[in-house]
Amino acid sequence: MISKKSRDGFVHKQSDKEVLSVRDAWKIYKMGESEVIAVKGINININEGEFVAIIGSSGSGKSTTLNIVGALDIPSRGEVFLKGVDITKLDESSLARIRGKEIGFVFQAFHLYPSLNVYDNIALPMRIHEFGEDEIKKRVPELISLVGLNHRENHLPSQLSGGERQRVAIARALSTKPSMILADEPTGNLDSQTSLEIMNILVNLHKQGKTIVIVTHEIDVAAFAKRVITLKDGVVLNDTRQKGISNIKLVKEIKRKGVGVNG
Ligand SMILES: Nc1ncnc2c1ncn2[C@@H]1O[C@H](COP(=O)(O)OP(=O)(O)OP(=O)(O)O)[C@@H](O)[C@H]1O
Ligand SMILES: [Mg+2]
Repeated sequence: MISKKSRDGFVHKQSDKEVLSVRDAWKIYKMGESEVIAVKGINININEGEFVAIIGSSGSGKSTTLNIVGALDIPSRGEVFLKGVDITKLDESSLARIRGKEIGFVFQAFHLYPSLNVYDNIALPMRIHEFGEDEIKKRVPELISLVGLNHRENHLPSQLSGGERQRVAIARALSTKPSMILADEPTGNLDSQTSLEIMNILVNLHKQGKTIVIVTHEIDVAAFAKRVITLKDGVVLNDTRQKGISNIKLVKEIKRKGVGVNG
């Protein structure tokens, strides 16, 4: 791991250490007599600390790919190594354990528990994975503060805005200290200003060394990532590196002036 301080004052952690490797993965759904091939032999390697966006049109296989990357789904064929372990060979309980330890998920529709307040939603994965109550008491307020929700700790999801709900979902995804955050259209239900705020949180997490993979169909959102994988009809069409937007203040200024993020 190499750490270097950049002009924005953050420590950027870079690493050649592979956290994830998807090898020749196929996902085939049987629909009666016919088959739907959602992904067709994809290969993706992700190193520690990368910020990756997966883009492509509707039906191109983005969610299927993310679910395979995140061990939510096992490919019909192929291998998926998470920190060197082939997760396609694990039984369901081992898979759940490794998923809980290594991966935090964020979804477009937030997926919060409606009857639990902000604090308890964030604490839930820690309770499931048997963290001690002392650690929970220390960590949950830190996470609430990290996503800027100090004044909302006792609110239920129904008493929060969409952006606030997604902040809770990000804090929850971070609660078990996973090595990767995976997000499927995390800004899909949010207005453009709130989307920027959510991306700002993800950019800052990346700067602190978290590995982040997001699925999006919005070019403006993908512009924040350092690597963009384009899917088409279930295959990887392109896998390119880019600078990635890291100065959120600049983006907000550009937005206010009514020019696209890439403009
Ligand atoms: N459970 C399923 N059974 C059958 N076919 C499926 C299933 N899930 C996905 N598919 C098909 O696989 C293909 C890829 O789906 P996927 O959800 O990965 O697309 P996507 O790129 O995430 O699209 P979107 O942008 O609309 O979310 C689609 O053609 C879809 O209809
Ligand atoms: Mg999808």
